[in-house]
Amino acid sequence: MKLSVLTLFPELIETVDGSSITGRAQTAGLFELQTVQIRDFAVNRYGQVDDRCYGGGTGMLMMAEPIYQAWHHAAGEETAREKTRTIYLSPRGALFNQSKARQLSSCYSHLILLCGHYEGVDQRVLDELVDEELSIGDYVLTGGELAACVVIDALLRLVPGVLPDESAYMRESHMAGLLEYPQYTRPAVWHERSVPDILMSGHQANIENWQQTRSELETLRRRPDLVSARRFSREEWLAMIKAYREESKKTDGKEG
Ligand code: ADE
Repeated sequence: MKLSVLTLFPELIETVDGSSITGRAQTAGLFELQTVQIRDFAVNRYGQVDDRCYGGGTGMLMMAEPIYQAWHHAAGEETAREKTRTIYLSPRGALFNQSKARQLSSCYSHLILLCGHYEGVDQRVLDELVDEELSIGDYVLTGGELAACVVIDALLRLVPGVLPDESAYMRESHMAGLLEYPQYTRPAVWHERSVPDILMSGHQANIENWQQTRSELETLRRRPDLVSARRFSREEWLAMIKAYREESKKTDGKEG
């Protein structure tokens, strides 16, 4: 997979290379990360890439032409355009989530991410080039670079070979539309808090059942919106209610 980022601040994107997993994966040739400095395609020798808005307002808008040229530099002579997807990071976009990460990492071989700055980008270049707009949350950042880093990190860990143990991401939060179950490591008792007995039982089927039910319970408690987007079977509901009652008993016992 190739990722190209069109930006005025490539140094913010290059921090992704520095992390141990993505850095190693890039060295191993599992993906290629390219940053394209939009200012290299400025409209004049003063490096101008932005201008005032038509219709008034105080802010500056990124101009269409430098972005258009930067995009062509990234896209090169690619012929398989259906395998290339251009994404504009913006608070106006659809919310980025795990299922979008899965779709992008499996359907496209080249993603071009456009990072906006100032008051935004001339709409005409978005209409000309962009396939979709994505937001990483309902808040406004000063530019798209941090959002691009989030998207890149979420995508890269889905590229086969990037994570040392691929089965790990199949089990974890959001992969099956559920949050992760609680996990424990040694010692078995810490500050008078014990690891749940079932995890020490060695009975793999019971352990997996417990993990599944605890995932469902955590999702119900913390993110009921995810639960309503997913259909649970009767058995799953019963197991969750049972786990919830057991948890409540323990908490009540402590408080009493
Ligand atoms: N640019 C500014 N704010 C953003 C957000 N929330 N998500 C993606 N890109 C952005």
